[in-house]
Amino acid sequence: MLRLTILTCFLLIVASSAAVNPNWYKNAVVYQIYPRSFKDSNGDGIGDLNGITSKLEHVADIGADAFWLSPIYKSPQVDFGYDISNFTDIEPTYGTLADFDRLVAKAKSLGLKVIMDFVPNHSSHEHPWFKKSIQRIKPYDEFYVWRNAKIINGTRHPPNNWLSNFQGSAWQWNDVRKQYYLHQFAAGQPDLNYRNPTLRQEMTKVLTFWMNRGVSGFRIDAINHMYEDIHFRDEPSANRTDIPKTDYDSLVHIYTKDQNETYEVLKSWRKLMDDHSARTKTDPKMILTEAYASHDLTVKYYNSGSTVPFNFMFITDLHNSSNAMDFKRLIDRWMKAVPNGKVANWVVGNHDNHRVASRFGRSRADEISMIAMTLPGIAVIYNGDEIGMEDRNFTYAETVDPAGCNSGPARYQLRSRDPERTPYQWDNTTSAGFSTNRKTWLPVHSNYKTLNLKRQKGEYYNHYQIFKILRSMKRRPVIERGTSKVEVYGNRILCITRSLGNDTVIVMTNPSNRPAAVNISSRELPPVLIVYAANVDSTLRPGTLVVTNSLFVPEYSSILFTSLNIYWSDHNV
Ligand code: GLC
Repeated sequence: MLRLTILTCFLLIVASSAAVNPNWYKNAVVYQIYPRSFKDSNGDGIGDLNGITSKLEHVADIGADAFWLSPIYKSPQVDFGYDISNFTDIEPTYGTLADFDRLVAKAKSLGLKVIMDFVPNHSSHEHPWFKKSIQRIKPYDEFYVWRNAKIINGTRHPPNNWLSNFQGSAWQWNDVRKQYYLHQFAAGQPDLNYRNPTLRQEMTKVLTFWMNRGVSGFRIDAINHMYEDIHFRDEPSANRTDIPKTDYDSLVHIYTKDQNETYEVLKSWRKLMDDHSARTKTDPKMILTEAYASHDLTVKYYNSGSTVPFNFMFITDLHNSSNAMDFKRLIDRWMKAVPNGKVANWVVGNHDNHRVASRFGRSRADEISMIAMTLPGIAVIYNGDEIGMEDRNFTYAETVDPAGCNSGPARYQLRSRDPERTPYQWDNTTSAGFSTNRKTWLPVHSNYKTLNLKRQKGEYYNHYQIFKILRSMKRRPVIERGTSKVEVYGNRILCITRSLGNDTVIVMTNPSNRPAAVNISSRELPPVLIVYAANVDSTLRPGTLVVTNSLFVPEYSSILFTSLNIYWSDHNV
């Protein structure tokens, strides 16, 4: 018996230490799941945890290494989960902690890592901390950012000109405490005060709670909003005449964003997570940081321990009319900025921005994924983009996103994030197979009868099939560790070349309406390549041989070429 116990202990130690993979994330695909819209298991029209668990085979099937769950915590849903009233419990509409444990267990059995959304900047106004803060109960009295009113000519005004991301003053008067509280997002999302050490301690407990439940990292929400100027100075005007004065973009946010202290707090969280991994002999935790900030301030998060300081270049800097030079300049800039030992990342889409197929146009739906999956590092994919889902147009009356509602009927389309959050299109049955309920929290896109996963699985060539090809290509050593070069031909053709030994992989994009024939031949390249994948609208088809001294790239095309050895080895020729 004793021998058996010793043997078991030995096996457990070997199994756990042998299992640690310090590099697991370096070439990873991270898939973002927006829980409200992924899969509804109980017919209430709202996605939930059991729904997600029932669809994890899909996440594994498309080759994700990890999935990030947008917030599933208890929340009044003012900002659809980004307003949290209990950081260590599950929103009842989504399920229970037991459901969460089952989700984690199933993910593990499929080899998938679970990443939680961590929302440090604010809680919900329904959080017990906030209720106690209103009452000035210690230590909660200092957990939020409270300021006295400014009295001008006997009338009460907010303490300064700071604006909310969701329109209007960032200050809300509280009649019980007789002070204003700061909310950089909705009024139901009071900002937490990171200058308070007890609050900071509480938040580390939250991280530990979820790590103990088996999560492999955190996507840190709105991280660059955590600290504010200690003098609460007015922010300068952005001198915009095209937007109302109540719009967030009318000010330059030098006192509410990107403060130095943020980077220090992140370092302490990195250490907390590293210690946890060392103690539990588990893989390093992934930290993804969300900061819509300048390039320099974004890449600075690497040095504070972020694994993935979200690279939003495909969202914020590039658009349908960007030219090949714009792509090259930005890709090179990012590659150059990645510190030694860290890896690049490429975000294709998320729940806050129009879908990639709508931003770049339907014909270019596959292009950005092709680039993101071919460049070195981590690709971050928003659920639905792997099948080319598109934005749905919303009327103002249908709009539920606070960013849209608060902008009013004339401007809601500029701000609303509802269009990219519609339910996942699984098949052509009721509510696209998302729910048995005909009425879903956001309407299903009307194109679901033809644009859905089931259909794409049964067809020969489409977004889903291309995505799967890209994923398997990404696993090859040439993508994992080959050299990379970004070039532009004739001003309009972008060419990304990855090479390792005899293996060559090239992505070429031609977004224009004219075909091109370019000479990319060089001593390093084989004279003949083969089309491995092409965007759905391209006239070139996989299996076509091409010569590098006159490489044909049709109009509206993005093509993945490889050396023949890669194609043959994958097609058993
Ligand atoms: C982040 C989230 C967004 C949310 C905001 C406030 O930007 O991605 O959805 O509204 O933070 O938490």
